[in-house]
Amino acid sequence: MNVLVVTESCFGNTARVAGAVAAGLQSKGAAVTVADAASQPDPSGVDLLLVGAPTHNMGLPGPGSRRQARDKGGNPGVTGVAEWLDALPRTLGGSAAVFDTVTGTGFFSGSAARGIGKRLRRHGVTIVARTSFLVGGTDGPLAEGELERAHAWGAELA
Ligand SMILES: Cc1cc2nc3c(=O)[nH]c(=O)nc-3n(C[C@H](O)[C@H](O)[C@H](O)COP(=O)(O)O)c2cc1C
Repeated sequence: MNVLVVTESCFGNTARVAGAVAAGLQSKGAAVTVADAASQPDPSGVDLLLVGAPTHNMGLPGPGSRRQARDKGGNPGVTGVAEWLDALPRTLGGSAAVFDTVTGTGFFSGSAARGIGKRLRRHGVTIVARTSFLVGGTDGPLAEGELERAHAWGAELA
């Protein structure tokens, strides 16, 4: 199974989750490529797509929120998942699992993954799983057990 994991991260937490999910997938024999969304990876021909981003202002990061992240000491890319989604072919099809990182689990935390799923569906992609990983604050760290959960989620997806 060929899997492409597309992600962005300002403080490294979402990138760490992506790495753990990829390791979980690999532990079950999947061939996994992890790519930064800013490098505009080509999603065609993969068996499963995974897309993840930090939650900013209840949704996907954009130029303004990345600027805010930079002001807080983060290191965002020039572009991210939103711009990568913008450039997808109209009909992509296939299956995807989506994830994000959040600082809280309540309604007011929002979810980048929800927005990613909504946008992928418009390209004919079926969303097979969605989850959020908890961080302790804007710059992290990931809550205890989240990396292990990310690994297990990857293994389960495979
Ligand atoms: C501009 C900005 C807006 C944010 N808005 C939210 C939010 O609405 N909900 C939330 O749970 N976390 C919010 N956060 C915290 C991010 O979720 C947190 O920085 C992120 O999960 C860390 O992941 P990263 O290390 O991959 O950047 C925000 C962070 C920034 C910088």
